[in-house]
Amino acid sequence: MEEAIRVVRQIAPQVTFEIQDLGSAAITRYGDPLPDVTLAACKAADAVLMGAVGTDTGHWAGQTPEEGMFRLRQELSVYANLRPFSGTGFDLLIVRELNGGLYYGRKGTRPDGTVFDTCEYHPKDVERVVRKAFDLARGRGGTVTSVDKANVLATSRMWRTVTKSVALDYPDIELTHLLADTAAMQLITNPERFDVIVTENTFGDILSDVAAAIGGGLGLAASACLGTAAPGLFEPVHGTAPDIAGQGVANPAAMIRSAAMMLELGLGLTIEAQAVHRALDHALATTPTRDLGGAADTAAFGDAVLVQLETSMEGDLA
Ligand code: IPM
Ligand code: MN
Repeated sequence: MEEAIRVVRQIAPQVTFEIQDLGSAAITRYGDPLPDVTLAACKAADAVLMGAVGTDTGHWAGQTPEEGMFRLRQELSVYANLRPFSGTGFDLLIVRELNGGLYYGRKGTRPDGTVFDTCEYHPKDVERVVRKAFDLARGRGGTVTSVDKANVLATSRMWRTVTKSVALDYPDIELTHLLADTAAMQLITNPERFDVIVTENTFGDILSDVAAAIGGGLGLAASACLGTAAPGLFEPVHGTAPDIAGQGVANPAAMIRSAAMMLELGLGLTIEAQAVHRALDHALATTPTRDLGGAADTAAFGDAVLVQLETSMEGDLA
């Protein structure tokens, strides 16, 4: 996050930051993973840049850091999570439904000890995210793959029905339905067949890690969570990497790219966003971090992005 903020301050000094706690830091300080002060600041902001949330300890006495993130995603009604992935021969966008499904359905334990999570969707909630995917496909390759498990799940059968009816409004877009297990395999064996993938929350979570694996790893995967109104929420796909915490070696590229998505999709600063994407690509090529087989630590990578940004800004003025 520090590196991402440094980058934004350099390219867009007009952006002011208000820093608030979420997740484990917020539990420690306020006893709540999403304290009122944080939620109020997020709601009042033009855009929200969220650091990775997660835990490896589980010593939070009934609360989890992740709950803060789930509540924030819901409070901001950011139902469409845009996760772009690219690599040799492929360039795809996963649109993950972010406000429903197993993450938000009823959960509990029955008297006999059975534990359950439920997957629930209202057709309206499917329609809005599918529509978003079709809209996005118009600005890309013109094809949508809807991923479900319609051979097993009632929610998936409804998802498919709704998707087909939305498709009637988009005769210019090609729609394919794929089962989630097939989609996972196809992502690995045939990633170039995909353009926009739209899917429910849990499938989208899993498939985005599959896509990250073929696209250079989780250190590179960025995302934008959008609703119908601002503020959008911008977050890396990865968690907190507790195995390397505190060593200063985590790859900040996903966080910096999330900040670039924030500049463009959250703040309308398209030129600045493009400059960050370019500087980031350059730094990845010249100064790779350890997860990419290089030697750069977090700050050195951030420095490389900043230097490249400066160079390109001088170039623009010349
Ligand atoms: C993600 C993450 C989160 C999720 C975790 C940290 C709860 O894996 O954003 O993909 O499952 O949504
Ligand atoms: Mn995930």
